[in-house]
Amino acid sequence: MPGNTILTIASSPYKDQRPGTSGLRKRVQVFQQAHYLENFVQSIFDSIKPPQKALLVLGGDGRYFNREAIQIILKMAAANGFGRVLVGKGGILSTPAASCVIRKHAAFGGIILSASHNPGGPDGDFGIKYNTSNGGPAPEKITDSIFEASLKLTQYRIADAPDVQLDKTGDYTLCDMTVSVIDAVSDYADLMESLFDFGAIRDLLAGGFNIRFDAMHAVTGPYAREIFINRLKAPESSLMNCIPLPDFGKGHPDPNLTYAHELVEMLYGENTPDFGAASDGDGDRNMILGRNFFVTPSDSLAILTANAKLVPGYRAGLAGVARSMPTSAAVDLVAKELDIPCFETPTGWKFFGNLMDAGKVTLCGEESFGTGSSHIREKDGLWAVLFWLNIVAIKKQSVEAIVREHWAHFGRNVYSRHDYEAIPNDAANGVMAHLKAEFAHLPGKTFGSYKAEHCDDFSYTDPVDGSTSAGQGLRIIFTDGSRIVFRLSGTGTEGATLRIYLEAYDPVVANHHLDAQTALSELIAIAGRLSELEKRTGRAKPTVIT
Ligand code: G1P
Ligand code: ZN
Repeated sequence: MPGNTILTIASSPYKDQRPGTSGLRKRVQVFQQAHYLENFVQSIFDSIKPPQKALLVLGGDGRYFNREAIQIILKMAAANGFGRVLVGKGGILSTPAASCVIRKHAAFGGIILSASHNPGGPDGDFGIKYNTSNGGPAPEKITDSIFEASLKLTQYRIADAPDVQLDKTGDYTLCDMTVSVIDAVSDYADLMESLFDFGAIRDLLAGGFNIRFDAMHAVTGPYAREIFINRLKAPESSLMNCIPLPDFGKGHPDPNLTYAHELVEMLYGENTPDFGAASDGDGDRNMILGRNFFVTPSDSLAILTANAKLVPGYRAGLAGVARSMPTSAAVDLVAKELDIPCFETPTGWKFFGNLMDAGKVTLCGEESFGTGSSHIREKDGLWAVLFWLNIVAIKKQSVEAIVREHWAHFGRNVYSRHDYEAIPNDAANGVMAHLKAEFAHLPGKTFGSYKAEHCDDFSYTDPVDGSTSAGQGLRIIFTDGSRIVFRLSGTGTEGATLRIYLEAYDPVVANHHLDAQTALSELIAIAGRLSELEKRTGRAKPTVIT
């Protein structure tokens, strides 16, 4: 019957479809090549082998090419035997909402279209990743098998059917498959309301506590409106840039001090709001600001852990916590005091899934503005913002006072990350190879006030399934616990991005007012010298400091 035929289209492999830290990310133009998206989607289906009539969740962050990609994937899902697809209205789902929907509806899996915090638009980036039935990013053994399948691909299947309308909720038919267009905002907002003390937050806001949430023209706008305006009764002026745009208003939707500068300028100065927060392109990252005060993501994880008892959803206690290796050890100190386990994983949210599924971990986080918990299997930007507001509402202290009190008790893990973006691949690999070669004779050597104790290339064995992930970052650990970590990014789309992570522990309260760059200046100089960075890359300064 015309309009209902399944086509088998001959294709041949692209060699570059290896998923990185968080799915396959490339320039939009790369995805627009003939069969490029289709090849990757067929490779996903070929490797996950869904049972007949399986349920799939589908949505993206709304960036340029989202709509076209959704239509293609729906038609491919119909041709590959799925029974039903839950798709976000307009083809849009934030990453945390997608994880929430997969879990709530016990879906077989989900496909999320996002390049997270990378810029969008016709010259920007696009991305796609597969999440499993626990709602989390596919583990490495699945992403490896998708890549293997992509190298062997000879054809893909797609329905020859008209586009499905995505702008009105309801059930539609595509060949033998049902497409349910859903409004995921309320599912997600309900989940948040079940975890946090909305009454206390409402009282805080009604009492004049002034907040600004910056959605950076990305996916969280409608979620923020439902939660802050409709449910928490915050004034309209609390929201900034909350209308999602396909090119994010030509901005870089990454919530940090560099790219969220509009919000940062608002929170620094006289008579500022009391609290500022921002989220990224797909809604899984967060930045927390107080008046003239920035909370590092590593400190944020530690402070949420230390105060979890104040939040209804976590009052019963935490099973354990986890952080990625480059994230500061601030949370380790809290875990020790709470006498709960603390796990150190490689970079990327996919490594937390097993720990949460096994009930070993409740909260987890990364230095890259990612915090989350076992309520879903993705990091969650708005969740972190609500967690902070819940703590402030109960403690009745400013953000700065809460952080300083935490440092006074636990000491401060002074922390910064320096990124060198778009370095030629050879130069970046050269820096890493040089460092590795140096490692043999560094232990025992003194550099100013630091003495190197241990160097390695971080390798992780998953305590749940025993799988090993090697080559996860070069670490130099000093005798006082300070660290320098060098790592190449797995999410960039142009050349290589070298990340240098710097951490120094300082228990002395009198030093806690110091700016991180000042407090870390000696470690920064050591990192430059040991890596021969300037000589090898021609770069004297980082592109972004967080
Ligand atoms: C970056 C972050 C990492 C995060 C990932 C996805 O990956 O460093 O912590 O999980 O984005 O948001 P990277 O580019 O460093 O590989
Ligand atoms: Zn993201």
